[in-house]
Amino acid sequence: ARVVVLISGTGSNMSALLDACRAPEYGAQVVAVGSDRPGAGGLERAEADGVPTFVVPFRDYTDRSEWDTAMSDRIAAFEPDLVVSAGFMRILGPAVVGRHAAINIHPALLPSFPGAHAVREALAHGVRITGTTIHFLDEGVDSGPIIDQATVPVEDGDDEAALHERIKIVERRMLVDTVGELARRGWNVDGRHVRLGRTEQ
Ligand code: GRF
Repeated sequence: ARVVVLISGTGSNMSALLDACRAPEYGAQVVAVGSDRPGAGGLERAEADGVPTFVVPFRDYTDRSEWDTAMSDRIAAFEPDLVVSAGFMRILGPAVVGRHAAINIHPALLPSFPGAHAVREALAHGVRITGTTIHFLDEGVDSGPIIDQATVPVEDGDDEAALHERIKIVERRMLVDTVGELARRGWNVDGRHVRLGRTEQ
């Protein structure tokens, strides 16, 4: 399966995917990495691996829908089977979501704590268990059908950075597992439920 990964920052989830893709039996191949930020750290790692990168800065467009269309066109040029939003911090609109199958990884147990400050808000709320969610993207904010989740306990004395780092360890493993599973088995979305398809032999 051809995968385009979208990032805005460090790209440690993207790096985990690039590592996994080295094994031919993994079933997925990262064909491009895209960003809304020219300085996103993960772009260098992708380039070092010989993966094409592209940047579509939000400020270059007059409105959200123009940016969304430009993003969608850049993605489409790589003919992906799946788009993976992994630390991509802008909301993708209908031009992207309506055209490409896309998943997102979010650092909380959705539907709790959607949005850009999930870890901070979970801590502030006093939850004892949080975690991470992989879901299909729809036009809402962190609202598409859930594919997988994993829990992470909050420890006494956790601050946002410490808790987020522990969540990211779990995220990287879950993202690699999920993308591999989707690539090998295919999927369909039935209402709010994701069903993995049969292995195509
Ligand atoms: C991850 O926690 C992801 O869930 C969230 O942003 C973070 C990205 O981290 N959306 P990285 O750039 O993959 O290191």
